Amino acid sequence: MPGGADDGAQSRILELRQTIRHHDHLYFVEDSPEIPDAEYDALMRELRSLESSHPRLIVPDSPTQRVGGKPKEGFPKAPHSRPMLSLDNINAPEELEEWEKKVRAAVANAPVSFVCELKLDGISLALHYADGPEGPRLERALTRGDGIIGEDVTANVRTIRSAPLVIPRERARSAGLPPAFEVRGEAVMPTQAFLKLNQEREAQGQAPAANPRNAAAGTIRTLEPNIVARRRLDFYPYFALQDGENLFAEQWEALEALQAAGFRVNPRRALVRTREELLAFVSEAERERQSLGYEIDGVVLKVNESALQKRLGFTGRAPRWAIAYKFTARSGVTRIEEITVQVGRTGKLTPVAGLSPVVIGGITVSRATLHNADEIERLGLRIGDFVHVERGGDVIPKVVSVVEDKDHPRGDRQFHFPGRCPACGSAAVRAEGEADFRCVNADCPARLKESLLHFASRNVMNIDGLGEALVTQLLARGLVRGVAGLYSLTLEQLEDLERMGEKSARTLLQQIENSKKAPLNRVLFGLGIRFVGERTAQLLADAFGSMESLMRADSEALQRVQEVGPRIAQAIVEFFAESRNRELVEGLRLAGLTFTAQKRRSSSQLDGFTFVLTGTMAGMSREEATAKIEAAGGRVSAAVSKKTSYVVAGEAAGSKLEKARVLGIPVIEEGDLAAMLAEPRDGLPQG
Ligand code: IVH
Repeated sequence: MPGGADDGAQSRILELRQTIRHHDHLYFVEDSPEIPDAEYDALMRELRSLESSHPRLIVPDSPTQRVGGKPKEGFPKAPHSRPMLSLDNINAPEELEEWEKKVRAAVANAPVSFVCELKLDGISLALHYADGPEGPRLERALTRGDGIIGEDVTANVRTIRSAPLVIPRERARSAGLPPAFEVRGEAVMPTQAFLKLNQEREAQGQAPAANPRNAAAGTIRTLEPNIVARRRLDFYPYFALQDGENLFAEQWEALEALQAAGFRVNPRRALVRTREELLAFVSEAERERQSLGYEIDGVVLKVNESALQKRLGFTGRAPRWAIAYKFTARSGVTRIEEITVQVGRTGKLTPVAGLSPVVIGGITVSRATLHNADEIERLGLRIGDFVHVERGGDVIPKVVSVVEDKDHPRGDRQFHFPGRCPACGSAAVRAEGEADFRCVNADCPARLKESLLHFASRNVMNIDGLGEALVTQLLARGLVRGVAGLYSLTLEQLEDLERMGEKSARTLLQQIENSKKAPLNRVLFGLGIRFVGERTAQLLADAFGSMESLMRADSEALQRVQEVGPRIAQAIVEFFAESRNRELVEGLRLAGLTFTAQKRRSSSQLDGFTFVLTGTMAGMSREEATAKIEAAGGRVSAAVSKKTSYVVAGEAAGSKLEKARVLGIPVIEEGDLAAMLAEPRDGLPQG
């Protein structure tokens, strides 16, 4: 490629990268985007396309390169610049007083100030930045490991959008950062992302993650950067180091510098001098705990002055200059009074422990899920046992283990999983290789109730006001027999119900009316097809565009959709093979539902692009590549023409490559295609 042509491209590429970084910062660090997603996507697309036609200009720090190759075998290990220690814990004001006195004594009453930070409940990481062409660039990211040696998880950390890949030189300098330094902090999964992940996992028949910390840890250690990129993690830094030593004279200064450099430093922090102020910060944090959007398990109090930190030094495993003031644990011990079995909308039977009420983290807990029969066996649970119950985030409380000591005698009643559905008495069966028992009766009233509640819920048809009490009444009076029945409810019928006036009846009818316009993906999710969660429904809607073509699709066609494997495909085929389900769809159509397909932004990222594949690719088969491109809105054609956007050249590419050169069509490699397919900014709450 002649140098002259490259020059124009080069400056545009640099400009685009800067602009995109700026918007990434606004979106992922400041939480205040300035441009609509579509505009951002257009910038990304332009950058990708320029980079593809000038592959020489691709650098690892480009925003297009967040998802790169996956590590081949596990994670290599590397030593930390200084040990990553843990903190000693306290959880009462008297202990705080004790700590503060020790600190003051050890520094011989030199004036000392304290930095108060939140103690985020995630996974700690050490990010190493090294001098790069544009400024300090993320070179390596290590997990804590055993504290001395960590695991290199760089490829995964690169996908965390609030961790800058590069800090423009001028910005680093004015923030007071040298060309090479280390940042330590915590990667957390926001509660929203965690709940979404678990919804997806459950829809796919996988066990949910126990809490956001486990989910974050599991995500960071996934050998598949693509998956990491799809889940939202945030990185909050809390140390700036150079060669293992504090970079700044004060911790406060370090936090301010990191913020100025573009990191997502937690805005909830305070610089204080007195014990009263320390305690006030603790109380304030505990009050705000529920509404932060991520999990914390306490606050960290740090001596602000680096010189004093040095004087205080370390005990064996923890610094003397910092302490974790932990909130009262969100777990408790209580007794299992009974075990009941709940029927879900798919017929799944879930054992639930009825507990002697216990207050955990300010909330009275009297029920906890036991997941399935295997879990009861694994815990060795009997009715009457005392158990540890945990409450994390917004998750349903969970029984973690049985307590057995002289104050807590074991229970004496064995629980036997019922052979019949507790709601309708039909057989409860467990399919080969599955953990769950299911009610076989498709008309089971408990299933029906759950299906209606699911259908009406916010993420599905969003029929506000159609809650449990109302659904129970509708079913008891025989006013509805399935979700389609909602659409023939009349004002008279509704007005007649308990706790229903004319006004609320009208509002509800309006809500039901509005839901007719719900897009195809939501209706699909609402149908309650096994394994078809919110995300799968979206991918299916994107790929098929209409209810009819989805219903006509065979297993093979279904499996061409991203993330749809044989198991999900089979569940869909089986669902539509049942005449009652086809009647349900027909009923919804007659009721006036439009099933409109609505293209999602991130899957239309290749909209309007036509690809030609040639040669052998290393990481994916041609079929796979085709399916992925199509799922992202692109087209694959067999022959190179002027209309071709890109030719993807694999090993031993032949005449198509020649033709591309003749026509001046950009030729890209497999890695470029993978980068284009990596969804930008996905998995985020929009707006
Ligand atoms: S400072 C010398 N600050 O809590 C270690 N840690 O037991 C000092 N954590 O593993 C750590 N938020 O992962 C510090 N603002 C914060 C923190 C924090 C969370 C975690 C960290 C560490 C554990 C300490």
